[in-house]
Amino acid sequence: MDSKAEKEAAIDFVNTELWRIEGRHLNSAEITVFSGTWDRLSYVEMADQSHYSVDTLRATIGYSLWRLLEKVLEVPISKKNLQLQILQLQQKRLSGETIGNVASTRQPLMIGQHPYTSVFYGREKEKKLLTDAITQKQIILLVGHPGVGKSSLASEAALASEFAYVLWESIHYAPSLSSLVRNLLNHFNHKTSDLLEENISNLINFLKSHKCLVILDAAESLLRQDGRSLNPYAEGYADYGKFWRRLSESSLKSCVVLTSQRPFNDLVRLSNGNKSVQVIKLEGLPINDAKKILDDHRLRGNQYEKLIQTYRGNPLILLLVSSTIRDFFGGDIDKFLSHNTVLMSDVIKEILDQQFRSLSSLDKKVLRTLSNSSEAIDFSTLLGLMKQADTSVTVSDIVQSVESLDERSLIERRSSSTFSVQPLIAKYCKNRSVDNESTK
Ligand SMILES: Nc1ncnc2c1ncn2[C@@H]1O[C@H](COP(=O)(O)OP(=O)(O)O)[C@@H](O)[C@H]1O
Ligand SMILES: [Mg+2]
Repeated sequence: MDSKAEKEAAIDFVNTELWRIEGRHLNSAEITVFSGTWDRLSYVEMADQSHYSVDTLRATIGYSLWRLLEKVLEVPISKKNLQLQILQLQQKRLSGETIGNVASTRQPLMIGQHPYTSVFYGREKEKKLLTDAITQKQIILLVGHPGVGKSSLASEAALASEFAYVLWESIHYAPSLSSLVRNLLNHFNHKTSDLLEENISNLINFLKSHKCLVILDAAESLLRQDGRSLNPYAEGYADYGKFWRRLSESSLKSCVVLTSQRPFNDLVRLSNGNKSVQVIKLEGLPINDAKKILDDHRLRGNQYEKLIQTYRGNPLILLLVSSTIRDFFGGDIDKFLSHNTVLMSDVIKEILDQQFRSLSSLDKKVLRTLSNSSEAIDFSTLLGLMKQADTSVTVSDIVQSVESLDERSLIERRSSSTFSVQPLIAKYCKNRSVDNESTK
């Protein structure tokens, strides 16, 4: 067999095993890493040939892929031994030996590209909360920082739920309501019409008579950048608000889960005293579970708690930071921390840029003021500092701003009226003001 055919056979082999256990095939990101690794490319070379960054290839896609293959094939897999392990397994298979995880479990039919969660630590409480809500509610909003694990949790809960049919739709591309409703009907093999109203009624009737779980991932795309006003939606998306309301008022057998980086304030209002809507806020991982991510990267050092605290247990950021510590500090957490730095990689910056774009200029000023203080500040001190900088600003402006920042978890409440900013965000604000100064 030539080397190209050999690689294709390896991908087929992996796809077959993956299908059996996980009910899916390798996605295009995974194929990029698998194929590059098979061809003995470095992550830097793979990044040159694809649209992924080195960080993403290594820390997110590669890392999860090796854990996934280990789970499915039940042998240790790494970038170094991939080819050898797969060739050996193919041999075994040819000679009739059973391999891998044969006890396949009952899993719902998952339609759409849901994230794989081959590694998923902790979250028992949140998973129970979400699976319970899925059976009891009609609309659930799962909200939290980018990278905190919303999509992974939703996917885990979907797999554990009693729903036999799960439709996963990422709406990061901000579809109009009419195109979303049409897409959903198409997925259900239901006929569509040119009239939005008719399509919505058909969809609601379908969801009333069928039991399926619809997950709309990355729903923050529907929100306006400055989500301050009563209407949270971006221009042209206000009809979503009415749509959720209609869903919440129909007795559905189905359930719709939205994941979002920012709260939908209309859903938050609806969830108060409404039996069919629930909002779940997701925070970072507790120390013990976050430590497992560090252990996976074979990091060592006494100050792991401090490291986890610095990044507030955000699994995506910990994955990124861990691979840097492994690659540049020999895996030594204490050595990394001795530089007294908060790591700001391109990916982390991109995540924070996204969040920053949705802030008003006053919000940014409040964040900057809080970031400049090494300690938590109480509200009246903050007010004084803000007034010093701009005499026209009012108390209610600042109250609103603090509430909005608090809602987005960009600031932390130390007591009822004392606030601070987590180190990563403080560093980001400082860098930004330096950038702004230097471009002036
Ligand atoms: N509980 C967890 N244990 C281990 N890794 C996790 C956990 N939750 C999330 N991750 C990892 O963190 C990264 C970000 O998770 P994701 O669900 O995409 O976050 P979000 O949807 O909130 O942006 C992914 O690589 C995911 O595998
Ligand atoms: Mg997500």
